[in-house]
Amino acid sequence: MALKDVLIDELRDMYSAENQLVKALPKLAKGAKSPKLKQLFAAHLEETKRQVERLKKVFLDLGEKPTGQHCNGMEGVIEESKEALEKDEEGASFDSGLIGAALRTEHYEIAGYEACISMATMLGMTKIAKLLNSNLKEELGAARKITAAGAPIMKQSAAEPEEPKKPKTGKEKYSAKKSKEDEAKAAPDLENPSSAM
Ligand SMILES: [Fe+2]
Repeated sequence: MALKDVLIDELRDMYSAENQLVKALPKLAKGAKSPKLKQLFAAHLEETKRQVERLKKVFLDLGEKPTGQHCNGMEGVIEESKEALEKDEEGASFDSGLIGAALRTEHYEIAGYEACISMATMLGMTKIAKLLNSNLKEELGAARKITAAGAPIMKQSAAEPEEPKKPKTGKEKYSAKKSKEDEAKAAPDLENPSSAM
């Protein structure tokens, strides 16, 4: 049953991802300037705790343990949200960065759950697919609410004056250097348009 093994790996990844978010969401809630955004992050924290419980039920049903795999993807996405929290922006502009970061975490999870649901459905695991679908619905709902709350915040941010440029921190310089390396590595493939087909 190769697909079952792939599913278990993916589910362990999701379990690690949700646990990582239980630790990260309070930081986003604390950092957000907008009360609405604070409330959304806090509410999604409670949902996330329930999602962890649902995943435990999934593993119980599978007769497997939920640990065993650390989700590197979520660690990276959360790292990006830490960068947003460290930004020297004011009010709505700061919150706009948090919205971008939070939406990345939600959509990362949406992709994970969609893949797991397809696999569980293929394997005829209806009970598991149903539990996972409850988590997926909450992620979709959270993303929708964050996007809706983001509209007035971004409108306000667009009206804020531009900040004067500050010297880059060591971390920002490293990030800028890596982004140039990304571009340079891709360049040979991009120079010849036919190779993109
Ligand atoms: Fe989640």
